[in-house]
Amino acid sequence: MYYPEEIVEEVRARNNIVDVISEHVRLQKKGSTYFGLCPFHNEKTPSFSVSPSKQMFYCFGCGAGGNVYSFLMQYENATFAEAIKMLADRAGIKLPEVELTPEMKKAAGEKATLLEINKEAAKYFYYALRNPAGKIGYEYFKGRELSDETMKAWGLGYSNMYADDLVKFLRTKGYSDEMIVKSGLASHDEKRGTHDKFWNRVMFPIQDVGHRVIGFGGRVMGEGEPKYLNSPETPIFDKSRNLYGLNYARSSKKNHMILCEGYMDVIAMHQAGFNEAVASLGTAFTSGQASILKRFTDNVILSYDSDGAGTKAALRAIGILRENGMSGKVLDLKPYKDPDEFIKNMGAEAFNERIGNARNSFYFEVDVASREFDLSDPDSKTKFHREIATKLCQFADDVERNNYLEGICREYSINPESMRKLVGTVVNQTGLATPIRPKPKSGEAKLIKPEEGIIRAQRLLITWLSEEPGIYDRIKEYISEADFTEELMNKVASRVIAGIKEGNLTPASIVSDFMDDEDQKQVAAMFNAKITGLDGIPLEAGSKMDREHALKEIVLKVKENSYNYYSKNLSNDVAALDEVIKGKKQLEKLRNTTFTVD
Ligand code: CTP
Ligand code: MN
Repeated sequence: MYYPEEIVEEVRARNNIVDVISEHVRLQKKGSTYFGLCPFHNEKTPSFSVSPSKQMFYCFGCGAGGNVYSFLMQYENATFAEAIKMLADRAGIKLPEVELTPEMKKAAGEKATLLEINKEAAKYFYYALRNPAGKIGYEYFKGRELSDETMKAWGLGYSNMYADDLVKFLRTKGYSDEMIVKSGLASHDEKRGTHDKFWNRVMFPIQDVGHRVIGFGGRVMGEGEPKYLNSPETPIFDKSRNLYGLNYARSSKKNHMILCEGYMDVIAMHQAGFNEAVASLGTAFTSGQASILKRFTDNVILSYDSDGAGTKAALRAIGILRENGMSGKVLDLKPYKDPDEFIKNMGAEAFNERIGNARNSFYFEVDVASREFDLSDPDSKTKFHREIATKLCQFADDVERNNYLEGICREYSINPESMRKLVGTVVNQTGLATPIRPKPKSGEAKLIKPEEGIIRAQRLLITWLSEEPGIYDRIKEYISEADFTEELMNKVASRVIAGIKEGNLTPASIVSDFMDDEDQKQVAAMFNAKITGLDGIPLEAGSKMDREHALKEIVLKVKENSYNYYSKNLSNDVAALDEVIKGKKQLEKLRNTTFTVD
């Protein structure tokens, strides 16, 4: 942190989050909270909430959340230093002049520094593309039919012929060689010292959902190996949890997303108006990416290369989508290799038509399988039918399975009755039990794993304490911060309890303790649990008995967990043993207690 905590807190307190967010999002008051359409994902009914009392925002749809700083950092693609500057200006506060020494930068936190380095590099490449010396890069992009506007929107750049000028530039900005290497933008060896990783390539900055640059892809201009060079994984660049283009696609109004393989594909699609396109980052599609996509849509259209490798990757992706409860469709772009080439040759309208005709992923799988059989040979054909039957077993739901069965039989002129029998035989022979994986029906409570139950109880308690600090007096005999056993939760609980004791609990200032985006989100979630019983059932408004019962259950759950936790991790320390014994007594007492709440 560059500025003293008091300044960070003063600037935050002088910028009412409702006013700041209202400058960007239309908010409507409902009770004590404001609601609006989330700027961080596409939605039709508002689940983005802003709480004046907590001075925090939280989206119940996509989980974005934090305080006024987090909002600006995510919304404006700003670093913390920029966000505090904007807010200080807005409130007419003069920030102390701080000249950043390398030591201070180091102290500012590694991740923040890495983000800054990436941002500086992105600017450097960006200007290089627009310099006379970068003409070759600019012409390359022009040759691929990208407009100036597109190049600007995607921050495209150029790394020049020199193998150490970015390193030199970053040094003048005060970054240590160690951090420059850590950012993945340079390597170090005896012979060459610290030298640039990227040179003589066109550059694609990779942004996270909050528009922050977390890495780069660099392409040779023309032929050459490797065609693309990518930043390695770093503390800020987790390839399995980011998708290229999601920073724009998240606010697309379409009810599906298009998943493809390449940077150029994403950019070409967006340029042609398909702003729902994203790509995995030069690596295979992962389950982590699927769960991120699921925040925005259940319908994913795959647009992988039409060659063998692309087909194989598509089949894998279909499986991953299915495991995550999403349905996939597959685009057929033949005779072209990928979306970029298709659009260039056929135009946006034709592409849109192909989207409309995207093939259900099950049919796609069967199509692919069919290529391995000779359907004019009876033996081979039988094997193919058996293969279909096996694939049909994956559908847990009878109706669904039957619909697919009929569809596919029509397609391949198979008698549906024989296919039904075949499915039965396959089930008997192989023990392929259906249902394989029962899908939780929407609206039905999902099964809660024990750990999730505990986290949930702790979260509920933190939210409840922050909304009604008065209940602390009732429960303090039993609950202390030590009962919040998970690290992040524990830090937050300590701040909450201290705040209550001192009578100045400000949830939004607690968020400022955490630099990491994911941490901020999780902290925001802790303060925004919907107050329910442990069973997830909302409390009847005004029912005192319900509330008393729920509070007791929650406190009991938190206490039981911490008792188990400390008993398990018991050290030889006498004091710790005392604590555990005390905990046991408290638990017994707690079971026979009723809390009064107002
Ligand atoms: N890729 C990579 N390293 C390579 C080749 C590919 O990381 N050596 C990744 C890149 O993210 C690339 C994607 O895989 O965008 C798809 O690769 P490919 O189909 O070969 O490239 P295109 O996207 O078609 O690229 P272009 O149109 O520029 O040839
Ligand atoms: Mn291509």
